Amino acid sequence: MDYLKFIQQYHLNNQVDLSTNIRNFYQQTNTMATYQHGLAVAAETQLLSENNQPQLYWAGLLHDISAFIPNNQRLNLAQQLQLPILPAEQQLPLLLHQKLSAYIAQTCFHITDNNMIAAIECHTTLKGQFTDSDLTLFLADKIAWDQPGTPPYLPELQQALATSKADAALVYLNYLRQNDLKVVHPWLIDAYQTLNTIAGRPASHSLKY
Ligand SMILES: [Fe+2]
Repeated sequence: MDYLKFIQQYHLNNQVDLSTNIRNFYQQTNTMATYQHGLAVAAETQLLSENNQPQLYWAGLLHDISAFIPNNQRLNLAQQLQLPILPAEQQLPLLLHQKLSAYIAQTCFHITDNNMIAAIECHTTLKGQFTDSDLTLFLADKIAWDQPGTPPYLPELQQALATSKADAALVYLNYLRQNDLKVVHPWLIDAYQTLNTIAGRPASHSLKY
């Protein structure tokens, strides 16, 4: 499959609504398991935001829309699309899926809401200067994760949510720190610092090894 051509030549079907177009895209690209994950994340964003951020439902549906691009094609495609690529993303092209999803949401689905695009673009790593939308989608993706079974960090994360979203995100980042994070994305390092500041905790351990 020529991924660049597929993205550039994709057209929305004007006869059906956005949610049907999104579903059709996942079907066409053989990523229906990711669609199911997207639905769960979309629903979770509404619970986390108490329905105050309806646009995040769409960000939830679209955040992993680039799942059809294999890891060994992600770097090449990101280069062809002239996306900014960080060394950590070169080392682990899986990390590029958040930027590729943001690109596809804009190009194929004509999403123009900057908050949505920004949230999709950092849903895996978060970033230093995140917004509440970014944090909400990030947390929703960790709560409704894309693997079988219950995430090991979930009970602690949900307990921390009673305090704040920042505390909940720290539970996940501390879990990552204790579980052999192979490549540390610089945005994640920055997010860790910001979250600790917000939560009023000294960042006694850096995410850097
Ligand atoms: Fe996801």
